[in-house]
Amino acid sequence: MRGRYLVESIAGCGNCHTPQGPDGNLPGLTLAGGMVFDEKPFRAVSSNITPDPETGIGRWTDAQIILAIREGKRPDGTIIGPPMPIELYRGLSDRDVAAMVAYLRTVPPVRNAVAPSEYRIPLPPAYGPAVASVPDPPADDPVVRGRYLAGPVGHCVECHTPMGEGGRRDWSRIGAGGQTFEGPWGVSVARNLTSHPEAGLGGWSDAQIHRALRQGVSADGRRLFPPMGFQYYAKMNDDDMRDLVAYLRSLPSLP
Ligand code: HEC
Ligand code: HEC
Repeated sequence: MRGRYLVESIAGCGNCHTPQGPDGNLPGLTLAGGMVFDEKPFRAVSSNITPDPETGIGRWTDAQIILAIREGKRPDGTIIGPPMPIELYRGLSDRDVAAMVAYLRTVPPVRNAVAPSEYRIPLPPAYGPAVASVPDPPADDPVVRGRYLAGPVGHCVECHTPMGEGGRRDWSRIGAGGQTFEGPWGVSVARNLTSHPEAGLGGWSDAQIHRALRQGVSADGRRLFPPMGFQYYAKMNDDDMRDLVAYLRSLPSLP
């Protein structure tokens, strides 16, 4: 089932929506929300996206869930805030977002009321004009397909692109890394994924990139820290891995 594949591999929704303890995902709480993102501009709590009718999204229609994922609007009209990567999810194809929703309907409902998020920054009234229809990327163009996987589906570029002015990502330096993440592991820094020979992945073999994604081991053998969703990327199929690498190799070299 495509929806299960997307949610449980490259999209890794559980990386934010399944709460984790020191030993990994907390049992019985798959996609039940409650993970806290404590940052300066907000204290966000991920939502329960299981089909529980009271505390999850069980009463929402398919169209309402699609609107929430792609446009950040709940049925009650409120706006979903960061770090839910709405700007990128706007580009999810009609087929893929529908498949994700079909899968979310099948996960076990979990009763888990989560605290509301608090935003100290104003949320936009909308993330853009209404999304009409998004086609699938062409199957025969690895770089374009890989760009779709690294952007709308996997939001790799969200973490791996530095912030520019006004708290917005500097898309002219896409893939250059630099963002820092604090957690129980200490501080990790999103790496440079461009084709730069030393600072980026230019000197890496395909196999080394596969290993970094699937097993969380860097080219020099060092174990990589979260919040990369290695447990999810481990399930990525070979076609998607190939196209993702083709896209990364196409990124202009940046120091
Ligand atoms: C980087 C973290 C992150 C990722 C990845 C992520 N989400 Fe979210 N999501 C959140 C947070 C945080 C909220 C709550 C934001 C708020 O309170 O406004 C949220 C809210 C939602 C909501 C609104 C539900 C409600 O009741 O308010 C839906 C639906 C949702 N996410 C679905 C998904 C799906 C499906 C995926 C994978 C394709 C996904 N999310 C990936 C962080 C994430
Ligand atoms: C939630 C943020 C986040 C997301 C999403 C994310 N990454 Fe990462 N990534 C990181 C961080 C942080 C590191 C560095 C970890 C460390 O140094 O221990 C990293 C490391 C890497 C590395 C290892 C590079 C090196 O020099 O060791 C590769 C390759 C990589 N990411 C590729 C990807 C790809 C491809 C995707 C999408 C499928 C992705 N990342 C999604 C945060 C993220």
